[in-house]
Amino acid sequence: MKFFSILLISLSLLLSNSFFLTFSNIPQVSARTANEWRQRTIYQLLTDRFAQPSNAKNQTLCESNKVEYEVRRYCGGTFKGIIENLDYIKNLGFDAIWISPVVTQFEEETQFGLGWHGYWAQNMYSINPHFGTEQDLKNLVEAAHKKGIWVMVDVVANHMGPQRGKKPKTEEYVKQYTPFNNTSNYHEYCNIHNWNDQNEVEYCSIGGEDLPLPDLDTENPQTASLLIDWISSLVKTYNFDGIRIDTVKHVRKPFWADFTKSAGVFSIGEVFDGNHGYVSDYQNYMDALLGYPLYYTLNSVYADGNSMYGIRDALNQNRQSFKDTNLLGNFLDGHDVPRFLSKKSDQSILRNALAFILLADGIPVVYQGTEQNFNGNPTVSYGGNDPWNREALWSSKYSQSTPTYQFISTILTFRKLLPSKFFSELSVEAWVDANIYMFFKDRVMVVTSNYGKDSGVSRDIIVQGNGRWSPGTDMVNILKCDEIVKVDVNGNLLIKLNQEPKVLYPMKELNGSGLCKL
Ligand SMILES: *[C@@H]1O[C@H](CO)[C@@H](O)[C@H](O)[C@H]1NC(C)=O
Ligand SMILES: *[C@@H]1O[C@H](CO)[C@@H](O)[C@H](O)[C@H]1NC(C)=O
Ligand SMILES: *[C@@H]1O[C@H](CO)[C@@H](O)[C@H](O)[C@H]1NC(C)=O
Ligand SMILES: *[C@@H]1O[C@H](CO)[C@@H](O)[C@H](O)[C@H]1NC(C)=O
Repeated sequence: MKFFSILLISLSLLLSNSFFLTFSNIPQVSARTANEWRQRTIYQLLTDRFAQPSNAKNQTLCESNKVEYEVRRYCGGTFKGIIENLDYIKNLGFDAIWISPVVTQFEEETQFGLGWHGYWAQNMYSINPHFGTEQDLKNLVEAAHKKGIWVMVDVVANHMGPQRGKKPKTEEYVKQYTPFNNTSNYHEYCNIHNWNDQNEVEYCSIGGEDLPLPDLDTENPQTASLLIDWISSLVKTYNFDGIRIDTVKHVRKPFWADFTKSAGVFSIGEVFDGNHGYVSDYQNYMDALLGYPLYYTLNSVYADGNSMYGIRDALNQNRQSFKDTNLLGNFLDGHDVPRFLSKKSDQSILRNALAFILLADGIPVVYQGTEQNFNGNPTVSYGGNDPWNREALWSSKYSQSTPTYQFISTILTFRKLLPSKFFSELSVEAWVDANIYMFFKDRVMVVTSNYGKDSGVSRDIIVQGNGRWSPGTDMVNILKCDEIVKVDVNGNLLIKLNQEPKVLYPMKELNGSGLCKL
């Protein structure tokens, strides 16, 4: 009898939820590598602006994006808000998110508002209470993982947050910070005047004379080791899959080698500079960089209408300089630069540029609100830039039917069908002229132009397939399923170009994918 009841108890334990929960609660230390990130696509979100939780007090706060006082303060987005809206990201097709910095910020006002964006740390060891609790953040990562979405956290090691009307670094000033409460944790205070002087760029404060950010002294071994221990612990505690590193060019390079090694997951850094040679050297200290050099080119050719030969030059320079261009983060805009549509309001051109970054060599990074055709605040000058380019997404009602949302979703669904060699091969130029850039990558062909919707353009171009597809192959444009291009007897393709991009792929290989109802 006794034996039996013990057996029954252990059986019921075995079968009960709590038994399984115990096991699934053991943190899965995944430590995602650069190689694993190659095939991913990243949706950049700002926690304060992505989604309020369903019980938020004021669900219209910041919606108008026209009141500067408002947009420089907290708008009410939280980790729970993100959890409730993960399907919006999943249906859009992204399998990774980059979230803004999570640590506690100063509560005191500055002349530029509050640190809702997260780049003004006060306490590195606690989670910003505006966004939720430590447990909420753990829940977010777990909920994202359940949906196949990896989480990359944005981190800052160059500086701490500013204090209005005060200059670094008196004892009074530094004691506000955790753990960097000793004057020896900071560089002597100076402002960057000559941005071409790398010593100044690394040593002095960013933020200007008005609101200088205290610059951490990573040459001080104690400061460096606090940062290095911090990143390892942050990644492990929350089970992050990657880190996005802020203000990389403002810290000496060897520090980054130690920092990224300690993080133990994929790292992608921000070196805010258009020079290929300058940015590329940082790939010797971290896995990847955001593709700032290519960003400038893409804005020049698609938004400003300059010659598409710019892409050829930029890709050549990328390949000559970077160790691995397939790991670079390709983007059209973000929270620090003008919204693409604020520079060029034509959504057809936006789609051309998006087709490029979603399928070119590298990891696409799309900034929240692009899918809703956000363009900042058109009623003021520089309204496409900070602070207006950080719109609260809830003003969109999370519509999944905007043409841009559908467009991104179609391409990303398609991207998931591609074989892994697509993500390690380099693209090959198929055609370039002043207005058109086409490329092949593996068995995909991408056609883009900067003519725009008002051009009424229509051009017939014969592109050599170079043996990539056999004669007679039906290539379907996955963006417009009734458009089929048959590879001719010479292996060439007749492209009937209009203002929209095309993504061509052998039709029979889509069989079973659901795309184009095949
Ligand atoms: C919510 O925020 C909006 C925008 O600032 C404001 O106009 C409105 O009065 C607020 N509502 C409440 C109930 O506070
Ligand atoms: C500095 O921080 C450390 C640990 O974070 C703490 O033990 C120490 O008391 C602090 N010192 C001052 C002067 O606040
Ligand atoms: C700051 O650090 C220096 C050098 O590590 C140490 O000598 C000093 O006591 C510290 N000051 C305070 C206030 O903790
Ligand atoms: C698609 O695949 C199915 C099953 O593999 C096959 O029966 C069908 O003929 C295929 N269709 C085309 C158009 O290739």
